[in-house]
Amino acid sequence: MNEIEQLKQQLHKQEKLASLGLLSAGIAHEIKNPLNFVINFSKMSDKLLDDLAAVVEDNADRLPEADAEDLGDIVTSLKENMTQIKESGERAFSIIESILLVSRGKENEFLPSDVCHIVKEYVRLSYHAMRANYQGFNVTLHEQYQEDLPPMMVIPQDFSRAVLNVMNNACYAVWVRSQGADADYSPEISISVALSPNDQLVITITDNGEGMTDEVKQHLFDNFFTTKPVGQGTGLGMSITRDIIENKHGGKVTFSSVEGEGTTFTFTIPIKN
Ligand SMILES: Nc1ncnc2c1ncn2[C@@H]1O[C@H](COP(=O)(O)OP(=O)(O)O)[C@@H](O)[C@H]1O
Ligand SMILES: [Mg+2]
Repeated sequence: MNEIEQLKQQLHKQEKLASLGLLSAGIAHEIKNPLNFVINFSKMSDKLLDDLAAVVEDNADRLPEADAEDLGDIVTSLKENMTQIKESGERAFSIIESILLVSRGKENEFLPSDVCHIVKEYVRLSYHAMRANYQGFNVTLHEQYQEDLPPMMVIPQDFSRAVLNVMNNACYAVWVRSQGADADYSPEISISVALSPNDQLVITITDNGEGMTDEVKQHLFDNFFTTKPVGQGTGLGMSITRDIIENKHGGKVTFSSVEGEGTTFTFTIPIKN
């Protein structure tokens, strides 16, 4: 009975996530419009501030010196604020774009994709989701993305989910370790994306979290195997990830883990033209 109850709770959670997934494409689309206003109006305001600065300069001799200086400082600060608004808006825009790209693809459709961009965005999404859900969560991220990687053929909506699953587990592992750790434990996760010499796409995610016992290593990819409390884990993440990387992309998921020290997951994906 207990197991049935747990399975029921897990299915409910999956159902909730599935409907969230559907919604997110719609939300992303709706947010793009107001975001465009934010970006465009901040650009316009920036130009207006240039005009304002010119007017102040032209009339500098009519203003008390201190006031002219104050005005100059205010305009400079406002311009800095505008730059911040514009850059944050553009950043939000790029996140939305990648969510839309990911949900736009048809099921099982391979599309030429900027793999580094996808990994980068999903690392961020996972990090911020953890921060929103686990009070006091923090981690130092080290990211290495090979430059000038050409677009790669992947199924973006699946590929991104695989990255998210492994990244979520890495975040959780460092969080758990930090709960019982001494003061000088510093949670870290390293992410790298590169092309191997034999033309395989290699993605690694390394955490210095709690690591795995032998038992966990054995069952890691089993459906519904989880060590997390009910409501926090479904035990589906790794089996879905393996299905995505190995069955759908013809690649390989490997890992190494030391209990109490950390874990590395590696995706190796042959390049498809
Ligand atoms: N980076 C990791 N560090 C330590 N344990 C991990 C890590 N990734 C996965 N695991 C273990 O594998 C189990 C299964 O992971 P997963 O299939 O994603 O399910 P869930 O995250 O819902 O528990 C986790 O509960 C955890 O015990
Ligand atoms: Mg998981």
